[in-house]
Amino acid sequence: MIEVSHLTKYYGDVAALEDLTFKLVPGEILGFLGPNGAGKSTAMKMLTGFLRPSSGEVRIWGSNMWQDSLVAQRHIGYLPEGAPAYEEMTPLGFLQFIADARGLTGVERANRLEQTITVMSLQEVLGQRIETLSKGFKRRVGLAQAILHDPDVLILDEPTDGLDPNQKHQVRKMIKGLSADKIVIVSTHNLEEVTAVCNRAMVLAKGRVVSDGTPESLMAMSPYHGAVTLKSSSASLAEIAEVVGSITGVKEAVPIAGGITIFPENIDNTLFTKVLEVSLAKGWKVDSLYVESGRLDEVFRSLTEGESQ
Ligand SMILES: Nc1ncnc2c1ncn2[C@@H]1O[C@H](COP(=O)(O)OP(=O)(O)O)[C@@H](O)[C@H]1O
Ligand SMILES: [Mg+2]
Repeated sequence: MIEVSHLTKYYGDVAALEDLTFKLVPGEILGFLGPNGAGKSTAMKMLTGFLRPSSGEVRIWGSNMWQDSLVAQRHIGYLPEGAPAYEEMTPLGFLQFIADARGLTGVERANRLEQTITVMSLQEVLGQRIETLSKGFKRRVGLAQAILHDPDVLILDEPTDGLDPNQKHQVRKMIKGLSADKIVIVSTHNLEEVTAVCNRAMVLAKGRVVSDGTPESLMAMSPYHGAVTLKSSSASLAEIAEVVGSITGVKEAVPIAGGITIFPENIDNTLFTKVLEVSLAKGWKVDSLYVESGRLDEVFRSLTEGESQ
């Protein structure tokens, strides 16, 4: 388990991170969300023992990250921002070097190397210099060094940043596959990533936590959460707006391209059915009808607006 209390970092007079406090147990995949400069990397550097906090502490399975750093760091795999590696080495040479640094020997060393290479699908590039690899492969080499010693805690700083959609998908799948019995903390400013891989989301802005909950609870903060959108090409939008606007419990019916979004006064599970029934009764041709889950980008903006640096 990882326990973080009142973690704070000042650079000169400027607070890069203030009073970060949380606990995580195995199985939790925490997403650090936030605009550039929010303090995500600073937090991760302190969680992994690379940067000394101005105040506060980090405990990993009871070991203090500063007083007992070797023990604490043994639990941790870390992918720093940009996935740095020794460019002139080959993936095999690099991973062997990391295996030695992590103190792996004998059969365990051979097994961990083989498993990691398989999980990260690195077989075809093992002998090629890292500097000549594609971004996707480089990132997989970075992830491979992080998971090589089979750590309990994985800390991944923007693991999918700069990758194409297929590579992003692959990396997310790998993270999900790894995480059943581990603690994972992944930073991102990519919102779909949070719903795709995380079961807890913490939004940071200007070094402070502005929201902490499930990705669903973040979605539920969106005004669109629970709204119903109806698209119809057979009736006029004005007519639809008037009719659906008078359904009991509807707060507002807002025209959009080709349809209407209907916002309830309160979250109402029967709104979809009510709108469908009205549409059928009126004989409108329903092109599409769906419940909105929420718009994470809007929630993100409203929580962090004007706070990019
Ligand atoms: N070594 C440093 N010296 C001074 N300021 C820094 C240093 N590293 C980061 N900062 C500042 O701390 C803040 C948080 O940065 P960072 O943790 O990198 O944010 P994020 O990873 O969320 O983009 C930013 O304002 C950044 O400019
Ligand atoms: Mg960063």
